[in-house]
Amino acid sequence: MIKNVTIIGAGTMGNGIAQVFAMQDFNVTLCDISASSLAKAMTTIGNNLDRMAKKEAISSADVQRSLENIKTNTDLEKSVLDADLIVEAATENIQLKKDIFQKIDSWSPGHCILATNTSSISLTQIAAATKRPEKVIGMHFMNPVPVMKLVEVIRAYSTSDEVCATVMQLSQQLGKIPVEVNDYPGFVANRILMPMINEAIYTLYEGVAGVHEIDTVMKLGMAHPMGPLALADFIGLDVCMSILNIMYQGFGNPKYAPCPLLVNMVTAGKLGRKSGEGFYVYTEGSKDLVVSPKFSK
Ligand code: CAA
Repeated sequence: MIKNVTIIGAGTMGNGIAQVFAMQDFNVTLCDISASSLAKAMTTIGNNLDRMAKKEAISSADVQRSLENIKTNTDLEKSVLDADLIVEAATENIQLKKDIFQKIDSWSPGHCILATNTSSISLTQIAAATKRPEKVIGMHFMNPVPVMKLVEVIRAYSTSDEVCATVMQLSQQLGKIPVEVNDYPGFVANRILMPMINEAIYTLYEGVAGVHEIDTVMKLGMAHPMGPLALADFIGLDVCMSILNIMYQGFGNPKYAPCPLLVNMVTAGKLGRKSGEGFYVYTEGSKDLVVSPKFSK
């Protein structure tokens, strides 16, 4: 039975994952090397829960209970000592993830399932860093985690049927819809999403249409909630480029190579929402999408 869940990494994905587990009464430990990131994550979770309470989606008692279900810790070893499930949501870096998995493999109880929220790194490589590859699995949540229904459940080469069934059932318990996929570059979500985003960037790069026009075509013509360029800014242009490069290398196929415009933007530090500018410019507190002067006619 899974009761104690440790989330590693208190960034956007980590705090969202902590929130959804806490809302279902799991004992959550949110672990990050930075105490200030942990404090920021707790504020974000509190604000998200308050917003739900204001809309009467949950009660104020639910807000309180959910917050009480989360403990924070900066010590990785102490955070995993009695974990039944660990969901790693640290930075997307293969060496860092291998290092974390080696450590949590030696510090957590033998029955503990080791999951990662990676969006693109090979599960089989991460599993190979541990002595329990059959208990390593991908739980790929989508941003914003409290809102998006999907969990892409990724089986590494040696993941056991039992572990996969447990994680599928657990994802349903969180109110999510899990979909099981195999471990190949980009899995399914990003294998399909990133080439679409890259093609939208090529469409801009080649002057076929402007930022607003490209996004409007996809929003109104295909009923996407956000246009692909706004979505790229939301995900982070550095993240998009890194996922495309992993697919480019993993398949050896140039069709996944990132558009030169995307490469230039990342190099120039224009990473989308998090840096304040990408295809659009972002000002604190404003929800309006304003096209970056670089791309306005
Ligand atoms: N936390 C909690 N709730 C949130 C939220 C957050 N961070 N952001 C928005 N919401 C809630 C709002 O409270 C609102 O709730 P109600 O419907 O109950 O009122 C609802 O979501 C809609 O929000 P807004 O009205 O503010 O804005 P919106 O209608 O434009 O929706 C959106 C915002 C949900 C982000 C929507 O635009 C959307 O679905 N966009 C696409 C997101 C997407 O594709 N995500 C996947 C990215 S890929 C990924 O994550 C994986 C990867 O590996 C790269």
